[in-house]
Amino acid sequence: MTTPSCPEPASRCPRPRGATLPDGPRLTAAELHRMENERQLAAWEAYARAYGSIFTLYGGDAPPRVYVSDPAAIRRLFISDRTAWGARGTRYFRPVIGAQALPYLTGDAHRAIRLLLAPPLHGDRVRALGPAVDEIITTELDELRGHRRPLIKLAHDITLRLIVRVAFGALPHQREQHCVRLLIDIMDLMYEPAAASGGGPDGLLRQIDGLVQQVQAFVGQEVTAARGSPDQHRRDLIHHLATGEPAPTDEQIRGHLMTLLIAGHDTTASALAWALYQLELHPGIRRRVHTELDGLGADAAPAAIVKLPYLKAVCAEALRHGSVVPAGLARVVPGAFEWNGHFFPAGTELVPAIHLVHRRPDLYPDPERFDPERFLRRKVSGSHYLPFGTGTRRCPGAELAEFELPLALARLTRTPGLLLTGAAPGLRTVKNGPTMTIPHSLLVSLAPQDGRP
Ligand code: HEM
Repeated sequence: MTTPSCPEPASRCPRPRGATLPDGPRLTAAELHRMENERQLAAWEAYARAYGSIFTLYGGDAPPRVYVSDPAAIRRLFISDRTAWGARGTRYFRPVIGAQALPYLTGDAHRAIRLLLAPPLHGDRVRALGPAVDEIITTELDELRGHRRPLIKLAHDITLRLIVRVAFGALPHQREQHCVRLLIDIMDLMYEPAAASGGGPDGLLRQIDGLVQQVQAFVGQEVTAARGSPDQHRRDLIHHLATGEPAPTDEQIRGHLMTLLIAGHDTTASALAWALYQLELHPGIRRRVHTELDGLGADAAPAAIVKLPYLKAVCAEALRHGSVVPAGLARVVPGAFEWNGHFFPAGTELVPAIHLVHRRPDLYPDPERFDPERFLRRKVSGSHYLPFGTGTRRCPGAELAEFELPLALARLTRTPGLLLTGAAPGLRTVKNGPTMTIPHSLLVSLAPQDGRP
């Protein structure tokens, strides 16, 4: 019989006879490192074939990590209340967002911050961002005109500018540029450490720290400005935090802002770029998107665009197919735990294996095929479709991303003269910290206004 959780105090949970962690590969620390950096998704797929939909990855001195891609197990292990389980927040972001940031918090502290951050990321406040998305894309396209650059860089600039707008409201142009530049420099150093100007790992950390301090000083100035702002109708995040009751400390505000600025653009940029690449590969799908948009007329309201069923299905399929975030945050089992004949010692890390769920042929027949129809034919259950993760740690920016993605896609795909080069079939996503993104070989250009090449 299945024991949902051990009724004994964690440390005294008896280990049932024969119960062990689910089976899985045993790698040395070096093999684990190589697997994680060079062939992560293919390796996970091979392990799932060899060991089944719940397998354990043992590597060097790291705690055992259990990858779960069985929907029933996802429901049982992640969707039920797991507030007491810590999360092994991604190591990439720790030097930038700090150890007290949302992905590293647990229990009441985690819940309180989620509640605090929710209003500016939901409902009317998100829907009011339609004109900002449009304005940002217009500026970016003006800058692109007559030039060619990696598609992912264009996507990043769009999503980064939007999250800066969500965080601070409409800033004077120079100030917004300054903030965006600092964040781009931080991301470049995190993901392309070769860009650092020498000094080895310590030098890299020092450079990142210097930039983080500049962003924090920037946030501090904006907090002061928000507290003194006579405008009671401001809807940005910093005003919400700085004038809330009870107000968080300046240090806490800086931490929350940093978390959302970093987590809130990379992912959406990769999803947008992947969706554009798929539309380039599938002219039939692209035409259908255009026809649906044409049906709304020239001045369609953002609220109407984001509700278009086929466009929504294309975005959902891009999130499924592109595996932008291939795994959720690792949950750390606080005390020994028995479930379904398995025994998980304290410290075991459980991971929702999002990529593997999305590639299950029983849930998504012919999973490698890009097919938005899947999302029109049936309503997909939460344990079958989880691009934003699940349970108490589900992405707090999901509503914003699901608003921004179709709007940006609709605008870009219908821009006359916008051209992708290097969009060959079979392009593989590349690892970029905890996200998967498209390679820089995929380029975008925009014809000059006078039509010359
Ligand atoms: C297409 C875009 C996005 C995707 C695919 C995505 C995906 C995810 C996933 C899979 C997680 C982990 C959830 C889990 O472990 O169950 C997550 C967490 C998180 N995301 Fe997103 N995300 C996106 C956009 C955003 C945006 C726009 C923001 C901010 C405005 C954001 C902020 C965060 C934060 C702060 C967490 C940590 C949540 C916690 O620890 O409670 N994300 N996201």
